[in-house]
Amino acid sequence: MPSKGDGERWRTEQELRLLYRAVAASSNGITISDTNLPDEPLIYVNRSFELMTGYSSEEVLGRNCRFLQGTDGNQPALLEVRAALQEGRDCQVLLRNYRKDGTLFWNELRLSPVHDERGRLVNFVGVQNDVTDRKRAEEELRRAHAELDERVRQRTARLAETNARLEREIAERRELEEQLAHQAFHDPLTGLPNRSLFLDRVELSSTGFLERGGKVAVLLLDLDNFKAVNDSLGYEAGDRMLLAVAERLENTVGSRGTTAHFGGDQFAVLLEDVASAGDAVRVAHWIEEVLQSPFDIEGLERHITASIGIALSISGWEAPEEIMRRADAAMYRAKDTGKARYAVFDPGANESTSP
Ligand SMILES: Cc1cc2nc3c(=O)[nH]c(=O)nc-3n(C[C@H](O)[C@H](O)[C@H](O)COP(=O)(O)O)c2cc1C
Repeated sequence: MPSKGDGERWRTEQELRLLYRAVAASSNGITISDTNLPDEPLIYVNRSFELMTGYSSEEVLGRNCRFLQGTDGNQPALLEVRAALQEGRDCQVLLRNYRKDGTLFWNELRLSPVHDERGRLVNFVGVQNDVTDRKRAEEELRRAHAELDERVRQRTARLAETNARLEREIAERRELEEQLAHQAFHDPLTGLPNRSLFLDRVELSSTGFLERGGKVAVLLLDLDNFKAVNDSLGYEAGDRMLLAVAERLENTVGSRGTTAHFGGDQFAVLLEDVASAGDAVRVAHWIEEVLQSPFDIEGLERHITASIGIALSISGWEAPEEIMRRADAAMYRAKDTGKARYAVFDPGANESTSP
């Protein structure tokens, strides 16, 4: 018959066996060191530790576990391990360790102190967990993120570049369009509105003033004997003369109306909101006056006069060509009656009257 003491011992042994089997079967590495022996050697490692590291228990018992670090002993996490061992407290760190075959694995190590019944530190228990796969996945994720960031950065930079190029192209095109529009409606030599723009303005303003009961006047100018300037001095000198005439006309008419150059020796002026032919005649006088002073063409003084035909809009709507036709008839009348003068188209007689 076993005594009561034998029964207790038996139960204790059963319990210890159970605990031993549980520790041995744990899927984590489990290690125990003896803190009272020199250099705190391992006194127990389980099967999972052997599988994880490739070392058998015979090879490692009696050694300090630092051999798993190989030559990689300069890891910041080891400062925490040393401090925890020194202070006899728990710690958890991530360490680079090397298996027996030299391959690296990431070891998530937890250390806990074990005290005897009198409270003295006697052992440390280490739990090892191989987290290489997790660490590798994290690393790959980090690299993927960094790559993605870099690709986004590069693409954003390329987009910004393309955008800037597009903006430049749009600006250039807009400038070109403006140039083309300007060319389409302006005389290339003088830069003044050409016939087509002038007709537009005539139509626009005569419709506008017609509605309000006002009138517009057109002065058609033809330089007298201009061909002689071209013939005697050449086309370049002729062009300079045309430019000088354009400048004087512009200065005289200014904001009172629109000065246009129809090409060759023909200019036109549109006056808006005139009360009677007298208003237009006054401007014709100014033009005659301003043309009187000689032009300095290549060191030579040249004089030029103009034949001016004046026509006013009628009270009903008409095509702009109509008023131009009347101004033209008046201009020819000025030419026919001796040039260097103006003539006003007489609507009653359907022909121009000369002063
Ligand atoms: C129970 C126990 C288990 C340990 N397990 C490991 C381990 O798996 N890997 C490791 O690199 N260090 C481990 N260490 C830590 C080293 O043994 C050692 O304490 C550490 O390298 C710091 O000390 P040192 O500066 O003298 O090397 C363990 C320590 C103890 C007490």
